[in-house]
Amino acid sequence: MNEILRAEEVHKAYHIGKRAVEVLHGVSLSVQRGETLSIMGASGSGKSTLLHILGGLDRPDAGNIFFENTSLVTMKPPKRAAFRARRVGFVFQGYHLLPELDVLQNVMLPSMAARLKDVKSRAEHLLEQVGLSGRMDHRPQELSGGEQQRVALARALMNDPDLILADEPTGNLDSHTGENVLNNLFDLTHSSGRTLVLVTHNEAVACRCQRELILKDGKLEE
Ligand SMILES: Nc1ncnc2c1ncn2[C@@H]1O[C@H](COP(=O)(O)OP(=O)(O)O)[C@@H](O)[C@H]1O
Ligand SMILES: [Mg+2]
Repeated sequence: MNEILRAEEVHKAYHIGKRAVEVLHGVSLSVQRGETLSIMGASGSGKSTLLHILGGLDRPDAGNIFFENTSLVTMKPPKRAAFRARRVGFVFQGYHLLPELDVLQNVMLPSMAARLKDVKSRAEHLLEQVGLSGRMDHRPQELSGGEQQRVALARALMNDPDLILADEPTGNLDSHTGENVLNNLFDLTHSSGRTLVLVTHNEAVACRCQRELILKDGKLEE
């Protein structure tokens, strides 16, 4: 077994005034390198919360996350940020592109921040892979939703992450457009033996992954 990511008894609650909203009640999970895994759950079930914790964007109240046996919980924030930038690619439902930058600049940004080499040629190559060579000098608002999400995919792949975490990546797209974006996502995942964890409330999206889990009442079920 070649495990890349492990969650152990993760708990998380949000506090609004004096009221605590319990979201995760002991989530445990082992993700193998190279696998594609979906986590399905109703809206509000805690999918985004869990994905953010898995990728080190947020910390659990209790429990631990191990990436290749290194704890993300005890890692100091600057180290965790550097780890995220180099090892994890995030894709969000709302694309999160910077409106004042063109497509090529948006894709180049994470690698420039990480001071990597050959940034421009890699960005151009990734944009070619998602079929957007002709749109490099466009601003995000000049693109369709599906095109914007493909830019976000290219950006997520820029630092050659081992793990891709996708949060409802086709949630804002019609089913045909969403299918094309998923084809790009799965191609990019498989082409370098990357690992994908995808959260969705859509069964048709979830079933494209090799393994499907359900998040319900704060726990994961097969
Ligand atoms: N920052 C926050 N502060 C307070 N409550 C939150 C916050 N983020 C999420 N929640 C609550 O936690 C629950 C799970 O949210 P979320 O993880 O976004 O679920 P999902 O992605 O499955 O829709 C919801 O009830 C939501 O209202
Ligand atoms: Mg969500």
